[in-house]
Amino acid sequence: MFNKIKLWKNQNSSSNLRDRIKNIKEHQVPSHIAIIMDGNGRWAKKRALPRVAGHHEGMKVVRKITMLAKQLGIKILTLYAFSTENWKRPKNEVEYLMKLPEEFLDTFLPELVKENVKVNMIGYKHNLPEHTLRAIEKASNDTKENDGLILNFALNYGSRAEIIEAVKNVLKDCRSGIMDENDLNEDVFSNYLMTSGLEDPDLLIRTSGEIRLSNFMLWQVAYTEFWFTDVLWPDFTEEHLIEAIEVFQNRQRRFGGGFNPP
Ligand code: FPP
Repeated sequence: MFNKIKLWKNQNSSSNLRDRIKNIKEHQVPSHIAIIMDGNGRWAKKRALPRVAGHHEGMKVVRKITMLAKQLGIKILTLYAFSTENWKRPKNEVEYLMKLPEEFLDTFLPELVKENVKVNMIGYKHNLPEHTLRAIEKASNDTKENDGLILNFALNYGSRAEIIEAVKNVLKDCRSGIMDENDLNEDVFSNYLMTSGLEDPDLLIRTSGEIRLSNFMLWQVAYTEFWFTDVLWPDFTEEHLIEAIEVFQNRQRRFGGGFNPP
């Protein structure tokens, strides 16, 4: 029972939300939630602010949602923070997005350590700026003993590139005799992906009204439940996360097994 959940201070209608949280079925909370945090630019534009102001606001939401996810017993929270295609954005925006992990971790790492959150990253490290990589690596190192929520940042991540790289590595291992091609199956292939060791997402959330995957975890979401909302990421609240979980708990997951009449 979720009786002791701490909610964000400025949460409106928190007593109603508390009741809804109490009704969440603890044993059916999604183990892995993945979020495409979209709409930061539009949030800023609506306020006549520079786009980076939207990203800054979005960063604050990351903290709020991480803390609630942790308390709900979610095991993995994967956040799409920067795609391999996002390098095409204006230079100042890219530079700001590359500073965000540092800014976030400079402020919140002690809290993450204390709250038993383990920081992880999926994505290509080779072309990240040194300062971004250093911040992520420090956070992973400082939280490596934690065994609570895994806060998994998808940074410089692209799913098609991930799959191609996995295929190349499978071929290499077959050629060198490390693996027999007859042993290749879905589980083995999954271990060649950047998400190796992490279970597939149960629930994928995308904000801002866009209904697409944008090259995010294409293999991993084969049986994931999707929840789309028009809310822009900086406006995303704890209440929206609860709503997504409520919807998830009312879905019938069949994994291709057919409809079971009640
Ligand atoms: C998409 O919105 C958002 C991003 C490309 C960046 C997401 C990053 C954050 C929310 C902050 C991440 C925080 C940490 C701690 C790393 P958009 O800019 O495409 O919005 P738009 O579609 O309205 O233009």
